[in-house]
Amino acid sequence: MNRENVFVTPEEMAQQRSFTQRLLRRNSARTAENGYVPKALVDCYGCQQNEADAEAIRGILAASGYAVAADEHEADVIIINTCAIREHAEARVLGNIGALSHEKRRRPELIIGVCGCMPQQPQMARKLKMSFPYVDIVFGTHALWKLPQLLWEAVSEHKRVFDVEDSAGRIAEGLPVQRKEKDKAWVSIMYGCNNFCTYCIVPYVRGRERSRRPEDILNEIRGLVAEGYRDFTLLGQNVNSYDGGDCDFPTLLERICAIEGDFTVRFMTSHPKDATKRLFDVIAANPKCARGLHLPVQCGSDRILKAMNRRYTVEQYLELIDYARAHIPGLCITSDIIVGFPGETEEDFQGTLDLVERVRFDSLFTFIYSPRTGTPAATMEDPATHEEKQNRFDRLLAAQNRISQEIHASYIGKVVEVFIDGGGRAAGYTLSGRTDGGRLVHTVGDESLRGTKVRVRVEKGSTYALFGSIVNE
Ligand code: 5AD
Ligand code: SF4
Repeated sequence: MNRENVFVTPEEMAQQRSFTQRLLRRNSARTAENGYVPKALVDCYGCQQNEADAEAIRGILAASGYAVAADEHEADVIIINTCAIREHAEARVLGNIGALSHEKRRRPELIIGVCGCMPQQPQMARKLKMSFPYVDIVFGTHALWKLPQLLWEAVSEHKRVFDVEDSAGRIAEGLPVQRKEKDKAWVSIMYGCNNFCTYCIVPYVRGRERSRRPEDILNEIRGLVAEGYRDFTLLGQNVNSYDGGDCDFPTLLERICAIEGDFTVRFMTSHPKDATKRLFDVIAANPKCARGLHLPVQCGSDRILKAMNRRYTVEQYLELIDYARAHIPGLCITSDIIVGFPGETEEDFQGTLDLVERVRFDSLFTFIYSPRTGTPAATMEDPATHEEKQNRFDRLLAAQNRISQEIHASYIGKVVEVFIDGGGRAAGYTLSGRTDGGRLVHTVGDESLRGTKVRVRVEKGSTYALFGSIVNE
């Protein structure tokens, strides 16, 4: 792909800013006239990339003069950012869009927008158009930067607007962003995916791989460090194929770590086929890189890995894990696993269980395979019943829960460093946070400790978290 064509042009961005200004003038005039402040709500489903997109949507809405609505009843604009990764995610979204029909009947002036991965699929865009006539704006992931114009057209011309581009996708620099957190920030470094794993809808809904310029990423992080952010997660569907001209992903990490300031940098998601030893060497050499790695393996059978088009073997994956662990002491490793891919036999599944016992992941995200229209796997023979798949899923979960518990029990009596970023999520514990590797820790302390690092002596461990008291030595 020609890198120059990848960016939305400054002229196009300026045009969108002029629509933002028009919306702002219209909303401000309303406030001046009768004191009413228009409000907007953004409802987001799915992965971290979607969360990051939702922060840009909230930024655009704030710049257009919309305050944040507490719920759908007081919202003048509702935007639903959708996920298409599994059928369950789509069903939830459709249910929630359906539930909004009452609100729209009660208040016809309410503007409802549906965006993200779902409408990027042609059959779903059609469904939204035909079956949900009260949805005013439908736009795909590639059209997010055009939201000011789409919203202006819906608000001022009272018409339904659709923008679902069938293109490779571009990069829009300079969108306003309203971040949810004060300490932690998502930073997208690349978009899209070229891997075409046979089960996955992502390459179809998020387009081809395209990388932001290294300077743009570094400037964004410098600005965030100056604002007080202390924890960055670099986002991309496949961060290891980041291509910033003469700057690959390990080099980008090095350049980020060279930025002055006290912060931690993590990244997701990594594809094992592109994770290099150099990447692990860079992490090992840079204390600012978190000691946590999310490396989705998907399955522990070479036959199924091939059918999934993952392009690595179990042995190659284990080699990577061994190298990473040998070079990065204390590394926490997490992974994704799909159970019940078409044609998976009991023997294939046993391979997955063996792999899990061998690696002993710190935690796992486990999924039952969900056929996605348009992907190669959706047309493959799939003789296993849902009960069989559920049974395998339950066995996998039980194995991982036992392993997580054992790992957590081994922490009892040890002191861990925790970045406090929340609280009140476990009964009897006022603060919570994460270790460098991403392990959840609950403790007790003053609210003022939020946004700081504390040392916690672990007293208890469950499947999902550690519990302990702050120590001051
Ligand atoms: N069915 C089930 N799980 C899926 N994933 C991606 N596509 C599917 C699908 N069709 C899982 C993979 C991926 C994670 C984000 O979601 O494990 O790593
Ligand atoms: Fe999907 Fe595979 Fe791309 Fe991940 S790497 S987003 S699983 S196609």
